[in-house]
Amino acid sequence: MRRRTAPCWWMYVLIALLATAVQLGQAAGQTSSANSLTDAQVRDKATNLLRQMTLDEKIAQLSQLPGFPAPEFKENVSKTMEEVLKQVGAGSVLWVPDPKEINRLQHVAVEQSRLHIPVLFGLDVIHGYHTIFPAPIAMASSWDTKMVEDAQAVAAREARAAGIQWTFAPMVDIARDARWGRMVEGAGEDPYLGAAIARAQVLGFQGKQPGAPDRVLACAKHFAGYGAAEGGRDYDSSYVPEEQMWNVYLPPFKAALDAGAGSFMSAYMDLNDVPASGNAWLMHDVLRESWKFQGFVVSDAFAVRSLLTHGYARDYQEAVHKAFSAGLNMDMASGTYLKYLPMEVQQGRITTQQIDDAVRPILETKIRFGLFEHPYKSGKTIHSIAVIGPLGDADTDLLTMWGAMTKPGPAISILKGIQEKVGSAVRVAYAHGPNLYRDIPSPFENLPISEMKEQPSQTPEEAHRAIEDAVALARRSDLAVLVLGEIDLMSAEYASRASLKLSNHQQELLAAVSATGKPVVLVLVNGRPLDVSWAAEHVPAILEAWYPGSQGGNGIADVLFGDANPSGHLPVTWPRSTGQEPRYYSHNLTQLPETSPDFKSRYWDVLSTPLYPFGHGLSYTTFAFDNLKVTPTARVGATLDVSVNVTNTGKRAGDAVVQLYIHQRAGSASRPVRELKGFERVALEPGANRTLHFTLGKDELQFWSPSLKKWVVEPEQFDVWVGGDSSAALHAEFRLTE
Ligand code: BGC
Repeated sequence: MRRRTAPCWWMYVLIALLATAVQLGQAAGQTSSANSLTDAQVRDKATNLLRQMTLDEKIAQLSQLPGFPAPEFKENVSKTMEEVLKQVGAGSVLWVPDPKEINRLQHVAVEQSRLHIPVLFGLDVIHGYHTIFPAPIAMASSWDTKMVEDAQAVAAREARAAGIQWTFAPMVDIARDARWGRMVEGAGEDPYLGAAIARAQVLGFQGKQPGAPDRVLACAKHFAGYGAAEGGRDYDSSYVPEEQMWNVYLPPFKAALDAGAGSFMSAYMDLNDVPASGNAWLMHDVLRESWKFQGFVVSDAFAVRSLLTHGYARDYQEAVHKAFSAGLNMDMASGTYLKYLPMEVQQGRITTQQIDDAVRPILETKIRFGLFEHPYKSGKTIHSIAVIGPLGDADTDLLTMWGAMTKPGPAISILKGIQEKVGSAVRVAYAHGPNLYRDIPSPFENLPISEMKEQPSQTPEEAHRAIEDAVALARRSDLAVLVLGEIDLMSAEYASRASLKLSNHQQELLAAVSATGKPVVLVLVNGRPLDVSWAAEHVPAILEAWYPGSQGGNGIADVLFGDANPSGHLPVTWPRSTGQEPRYYSHNLTQLPETSPDFKSRYWDVLSTPLYPFGHGLSYTTFAFDNLKVTPTARVGATLDVSVNVTNTGKRAGDAVVQLYIHQRAGSASRPVRELKGFERVALEPGANRTLHFTLGKDELQFWSPSLKKWVVEPEQFDVWVGGDSSAALHAEFRLTE
């Protein structure tokens, strides 16, 4: 067995996960799995959706909404894109350049539309997305199909990472007239070379099997004969004898189809006096009847309404009728299908069966291409991980000094845990960085009963060279996992320290690796809070592992890669710096309470608040607390009931650690500002909620009074807070009476 789950993964405390956090789990998981549904399963899923859809929802799937102001669309649809997405969804959205906006709109479609059908975001990713490769005609000049395939795979990965799932490429139009401006977008004049390059591009974009989350849906365009525009004048009519169509212009399209191209785009021009976007010979006879194409056809931009301009239709409704009847599934950006198709159905000119037949390939494509599993922009695909730091390959150090005493054998190091987790698909390399050793040695070193050892001391030059090596490794890798902290001899007995700073050049190592710009995850192996204020501001994710024991490396890898959801919460207050110590949450209120409006800080060089409060801990999901109820008054000696509702508001199952704090407002002694008096770990599926009950009785309410020299429960006013840490805001009050 390659991996196992560590028995106590909840011991890890995710203390910082900023917005840019690296989602190792998603990224690594996405490298491998293409969608493995069978054709029958794809069909069943589509049938099931079709059964639930209204006519308007179906027609929305036949429509691509423009992601830019388009008067042609406005003329037909008065709603905003967001309104359309919420009310009926959409087949696709065209040209939204900003990945954040794509993600936002996809969330609207997936979360707010009735049937949660994801949208295909389409863009012309012709020869690169972020990395721009030579123009298509230049790529074809290579005659190197492998290279062309690889280039389009890179383009696909980059586009998918930005949320684009559909490219309007490859353009496979044969071009024999150099006056035609779009010759540059294709592979030249020859059908054989054109077919080979078309095939390579489709494979590059889509992969061999559709559905991998780092690939995009290809679209062979412009179907067909566009390159034969008379006089090389773009958009002008093409007159191509049938034998030339079969022998010259169609073969690259057939090659694209055979390579698995999931979509085709109709062309703008008249082909032999019938506009390609209303041409049943092309879209029905050739594509579906002869070639058995199972995907869908989208029009070129606004080409449905252009059937009117061509003089092929009397009005828009007839244009829609002709385009749809000829086999055009999706209208690009003109909104004509949205407006006129419902009328066509209501007037009986198009049947609901025809609508279903047109929608089905769009739904099936979305299912087959994994849109339902991966609707959002993908994380960065990870090919290499740098594990860096003097505790990255540590084994006995993960046991603590007492754990190592019985010589239980080495623990699984974090390096090993990560290697086992990702397998051979991801290159994992290690750089140790500077060594860890105490300024004043520990008497526990080299005891016959244990094997604890310091790392050898180094000159500053040696330490800096080690940092340079680590930086070089980070530069060659997709991300860095830094494992920093304290070797076992730096914590526990005879291991106090005056400074909580990361010792032995570790802070320099962290800053230097972060400066490479690579995503960094910091894993802390240590026995006490350390000064990680710099990391809290600059490092996307921080995981506190403490000394995680024999299975430490496996457990940490489970958390980093999302197989376990962290739910540890800090049992100590985490200071911003050494000078704040001792810093604990249950201190008394003082002359100028920290809650007063005038209060800024006890220090002039740092805030009084801790970096992370007692009880703090993050999760890959989120929790909300509400409906806090407490018996408002009770007699001294009675037991009060406190109830609170906790909901998992995120998308993953996880454990909440619900904490209850109280404060006695006055009495025979000053009482702490907050005291923990109840807690419960509760496992919740996404969206699930539970009402928890706590009791406050004598044990929770009593304290030993220094003035009365005895244990007392006092008739006073009390505050109660419940939440996920000691700064919980959800508040209630109660009074104890004589
Ligand atoms: C072009 C197509 C392109 C589409 C969407 C049209 O003007 O002819 O090649 O894919 O716009 O961008």
